[in-house]
Amino acid sequence: MCGIVGYTGSRPVKDILISGLERLEYRGYDSAGIAVEEEDGLQIVHRKGKVASLAHTVDHFDFAGTCGIGHTRWATHGRPSEANAHPHASCDGHIAVVHNGIIENFTELREELEAEGHAFTSDTDTETIAHLVEELYEDDLLEAVREATQRLIGAYAIAVISDREPGTIIAARKDSPLVVGRGTDGSFVASDIIALIDDTRDVVMLGDGEIAKLRPDFIDYYNAYGERFVPQTTHIDWDVDVAEKGGYPDFMMKEIHEQPRVIRDTLSGRLADGRLSIDELDLTHEELNLIDRVYVIACGTSYHAGLIAKNLIEGWARIPCEVEVASEFRYRNPIITPTTLVVAVSQSGETADTLAAIRDARVKGAKVFGITNVVGSPVARESDGVIYTKANKEIAVASTKSFLGQVVSLTLLALLLAQVKGKFKTNQVRLLFRELADTAEQVEHILSDTAAIDEAACACKDAKSALFVGRGMGAAIANEGALKLKEISYLHAEAYPAGEMKHGPIALIDEGFPVIAVATKSPVYDKLVSNLQEAKARGAMVVAVATEGDEDIRAHADHVIYIPKVRDAFSAITASVPLQLFARAIAIERGCDVDQPRNLAKSVTVE
Ligand code: F6R
Repeated sequence: MCGIVGYTGSRPVKDILISGLERLEYRGYDSAGIAVEEEDGLQIVHRKGKVASLAHTVDHFDFAGTCGIGHTRWATHGRPSEANAHPHASCDGHIAVVHNGIIENFTELREELEAEGHAFTSDTDTETIAHLVEELYEDDLLEAVREATQRLIGAYAIAVISDREPGTIIAARKDSPLVVGRGTDGSFVASDIIALIDDTRDVVMLGDGEIAKLRPDFIDYYNAYGERFVPQTTHIDWDVDVAEKGGYPDFMMKEIHEQPRVIRDTLSGRLADGRLSIDELDLTHEELNLIDRVYVIACGTSYHAGLIAKNLIEGWARIPCEVEVASEFRYRNPIITPTTLVVAVSQSGETADTLAAIRDARVKGAKVFGITNVVGSPVARESDGVIYTKANKEIAVASTKSFLGQVVSLTLLALLLAQVKGKFKTNQVRLLFRELADTAEQVEHILSDTAAIDEAACACKDAKSALFVGRGMGAAIANEGALKLKEISYLHAEAYPAGEMKHGPIALIDEGFPVIAVATKSPVYDKLVSNLQEAKARGAMVVAVATEGDEDIRAHADHVIYIPKVRDAFSAITASVPLQLFARAIAIERGCDVDQPRNLAKSVTVE
């Protein structure tokens, strides 16, 4: 959802900006640009498309400047084009701005500024900020930016430079993330730690309404009233190699292979003497025991993790659980009482709809619990408690290891609720925990031989559309399988509970139509097999994800992908892995960029 980077220090800034943008590219890749303070004024270069195209262009530029800002864009206002690429400049060319977010009152501001004589050259909301700062600038960039932000309605993370104040970057944010840090030879700002991590591990997550003034040898922090304060620093302890492919052909494949580690790390230290501990929940046993309704709110893949959790929370803890996409939840009037637990799931921790739903739920009196990857993210900060999934940074836009981390975290939560409600004895908790931990090895086993997955993918690669089906837990998993396939391969896919097929979707099926079934052994296995027979009778090409040892399934499927036997409650963990690999294999066959699918961005900070 746009990536911002900035540096002021003693090193030439051009390469720092380009490598920062390469790391932030997962946030958007419609266009990219940099602004560098040169002796003769600000130099701005943009390119439509990916950072590589910008990098190629600026290779020929001999910039010596040591202060600058950069941007990689996911288009909101104005289509992807060079004119709409950031940085945007003021009329006089003395001010340049990069922005992540949406300025909701930009039309009104633009009209006002045009009436004052400002000529606009793009369709973006961001350009308004450059002109507004220019209008307000007297002799202090910090003050001009502070006043400008007071006029902005919406979400923004901005970095602003002016050649009238060489070596200064002003960074400000509201509802869009921004991190700031000091390296040994300068000061950095970026949308995400990953762009700074080579130079500093101690960062400040700028808060809403806060402003930072970056100079080559210091950073000052101000609140919305212009008062200086000393911020809290967060130490980052994950490795820089998350930003490298580590020998894998793409980040998606690397991240799929990290999943056994994610399961182990997410579970580490959670069970002692047969008792689960999720201290981050910050609720006493008594308070947990009072919970009588759970909402899981999330978007996209994270929402699918919620669908899986519903089966566990209701099945084990016997607490009614609703799962809702955050963009619907926030505009409804859901029934919330002080004994309602709202679980907000977001890998990025900054999804606008999920954040709005959190705020709404808290105002209505719910306890809100966040599940996220990102330490110090808005979801973590705005929730009453948080579980970090231990997936660490995910670079591929399609979520894989984050999803698994979310499912494991939600499984722990369901287990804890069941234990607190007295549904499980200590021995049962121990047994379930051990089986949950064993899924790490089972996922390793799945990853060790993907021949059947590749073969099935090859058979489906030229299809125009596909149907994913399952029952019970399998129905929830099918949703994620379909989303993964459509988002990275552009092959249309839908998911349906298998029993619903005959109420409409079966009309889609003709000779060779792919039906991908989550057909693992479960209490509804026989029912699912009947549905597969109905599909086969109409010519479907059935791909079944089935339990090792199930030879009978071969009679109902054209391709069988076997996975180890696990308890149905844990089947989402094992069955989703071959579906991720299946989607990736089809996308590769179709020549798609699996890490950066078109039109998408890793974090969605707009409504
Ligand atoms: C799909 C995917 C998205 C995200 C969704 C929510 O692979 O990653 O559907 O799950 O945009 O994002 P988060 O989890 O960051 O709130």
